[in-house]
Amino acid sequence: MFFDLSGKRAFITGGASGIGLAVARRFAEAGARVVIADMQDGQAVATELGGTFVHLDVSDSAAVLSALAQNCEQEGKLDILINNAGINGADGVTIEDSDEALTRKLLEINTLGVYHGLKHGPAHIRDGGAIINTASLGATLMFPGSGPYSATKAAVINLTQMSALELAPRKIRVNAVAPSFIRTPLAQDDIELFEKMSYNATAAQRIAEPEEVAAVFHFLASDDASYMNGQVINVDGGMSLGFTNVQLDMISQELTSGG
Ligand SMILES: NC(=O)c1ccc[n+]([C@@H]2O[C@H](COP(=O)([O-])OP(=O)(O)OC[C@H]3O[C@@H](n4cnc5c(N)ncnc54)[C@H](O)[C@@H]3O)[C@@H](O)[C@H]2O)c1
Repeated sequence: MFFDLSGKRAFITGGASGIGLAVARRFAEAGARVVIADMQDGQAVATELGGTFVHLDVSDSAAVLSALAQNCEQEGKLDILINNAGINGADGVTIEDSDEALTRKLLEINTLGVYHGLKHGPAHIRDGGAIINTASLGATLMFPGSGPYSATKAAVINLTQMSALELAPRKIRVNAVAPSFIRTPLAQDDIELFEKMSYNATAAQRIAEPEEVAAVFHFLASDDASYMNGQVINVDGGMSLGFTNVQLDMISQELTSGG
């Protein structure tokens, strides 16, 4: 079977909701035993998937170490680590006007959360395993008003690339997935904007569902991705390509109407 994960153990941060939950469901379907590690309760879904739930704040280095150590002591080493927990901090203001407390929180969860996984994870992963970090298209495509968030995700890309080289001797592959706008609880407050942006600015002309992102995690986690290392895969419906026909039509309509 392609992308078979049977017998593999996967630890998924932020696995109780959105993209992480879709990843957990997909991995379980592919035969993996999943550990959902999240700040919010994921016990019911972990039980439903035949896995386990660990309450975890990824911004707490000691807690990440202890969660990994305790879990592996009970169930053995991991094959897959998904550093996915994150928060949205795109509040539409410039870096100059940005809120420092929010910026610190973003750095602590989005960047240090991944750093803690990369620092403490390898000792608890078998040689030949896979790590996948959740970045964002916003790390490389600038959306004004999301400066601090973008920076936290750019750092995730950098950490991914460095770890890929550092862990290569153990044949542990480290990749990142960079989604554009995905319909998850994180996007709920801005869903109309996200949908409109996706319609206008992607070749796909629509927002993505979390399952469409989980499919890419699945490939990267599987042995079929054996030659994929240090890569950042945009899951963006073509948003990073440039102008869409919808955007060009809007501009030409504006020109013909004398706007
Ligand atoms: N939804 C999007 O449009 C989008 C786009 C690009 C990147 N992302 C990234 O995808 C990842 C998943 O986001 P999502 O859209 O599924 O959002 P979500 O809110 O549905 O899920 C995020 C999960 O992370 C958990 N979490 C938050 N802070 C935590 C912490 N300190 N410790 C442990 N768990 C914590 C939450 O409880 C939640 O279950 C995030 O890193 C986010 O930045 C999302």
